[in-house]
Amino acid sequence: MSELHKIIIDTDTGGDDACALILAVKSPLVEILGVTVAAGNVSLPQAVRNAMASLEIAGSDAKIYPGAVKPFSGEERETFSVYGNDGMGDAGIINPKGKAEDKHAVDFILETVAANPGEIEIVALGPVTNIALAIAHDPETMKKVKRIWSMGTAGFGPGNATPVAEFNVYKDAEAYKIMLDLGIPVTVIGLDMDDEPTWVSEECWREMGRGSRLQQFISKATGKLLEFKQGNGINAVDLPDAVAMATLVWPDFVTASVKCSASCITDKGETHGLVIFYKEGFTYDSMPETGEANVTVITGAKKNEFVRRLNEVLAED
Ligand code: RIB
Ligand code: CA
Repeated sequence: MSELHKIIIDTDTGGDDACALILAVKSPLVEILGVTVAAGNVSLPQAVRNAMASLEIAGSDAKIYPGAVKPFSGEERETFSVYGNDGMGDAGIINPKGKAEDKHAVDFILETVAANPGEIEIVALGPVTNIALAIAHDPETMKKVKRIWSMGTAGFGPGNATPVAEFNVYKDAEAYKIMLDLGIPVTVIGLDMDDEPTWVSEECWREMGRGSRLQQFISKATGKLLEFKQGNGINAVDLPDAVAMATLVWPDFVTASVKCSASCITDKGETHGLVIFYKEGFTYDSMPETGEANVTVITGAKKNEFVRRLNEVLAED
C-alpha cells in the first residue's frame, strides 16, 4: 500500500496545471489540503479562476488561496501565455461558480505546515514565489515541510523560456534560489521529463476533444498550446505539470533519479534562470568536490505510458 501524501498544490494555472490538478483530485494517494496560486502563465486573478474551474469540473471542493501577483524581487520578466490569453485555450470554458478564500496563500502555507510538522508536501507547478515568500516570513516553519515536488528547471535538457532556462524558474529565479537554499528535500521534475514520449499527438488531442467531459476540458484548454507548438514544428501538446504530478500519484512511474547540488543563476543576463546540477559523487574535471546534494532530480520515468494512463484517468468522468 503506497503512502498517502498530504499536499498543497501551488499553481499558476494554465492548461497543463489544470491537467495536473485533475490528476491529483482523481488520485486516492493524495489528500489536497489546499491550492495556492501565484501569477505566472497568466495574471493572479485569471490563474485563480482557472484553478477554480479545473477543481470544479473534477468534482473537488478543495479551497483556493490567492498569493503572489508578481515575482519575489518585484521585477517582472515579460513572457506570453502559450495557453492563450486566459491560459486555458481561450475556449470559453472558464466560468467557475465558487469563490477563492480571503486568506493569503502564504498564510495558508505557513499555518498548514505549522499544524502538520514534517507531514506536508508541496507540489509546485508554477513560479515558486509563494514558497519563497513563506520562507522569507518564517524559515523555521518552512523547514518542517516534508518535501517539495518542483516542476521547474530544464533538468538536463534545454529550456523553453530561453535556450537555457525553464519558464517557472525564469519567471522568478530569486524565489527558486531561496527555495533551493532552505535545505529541505526537493524533488525536481525538469522539462527533460516532458519530452516526446509524453506528448499528446494532434490525433490523440482530437480524440480527447470527442471524449469524456474531462478529456474535452483538457483538449480545449490546450488548443492554443497546440497552435503554438505547431508554429515550432511540433504537432503535439506537452503537459509538464501533469508529468510532474504523475511522479507523485503513480508511484511506479519514476524509474531513475540522481541526487545533485543545484545552483540557480539569478544574474540578469542571458543565463537568468539557468539551474546547474552537480551530480553527487561525480568528479568534474575542474571541481573535485561538489556542494552537498540539495535536490533529487528525476532522470527516468515510464514516459511511454504517460498519455495512455492520463487518458484512463480523464476518461472515467
Ligand atoms: O515550463 C513549463 C511550466 O511553465 C509549466 O508549469 C507551465 O504551466 C508553465 O508554468
Ligand atoms: Ca504551471
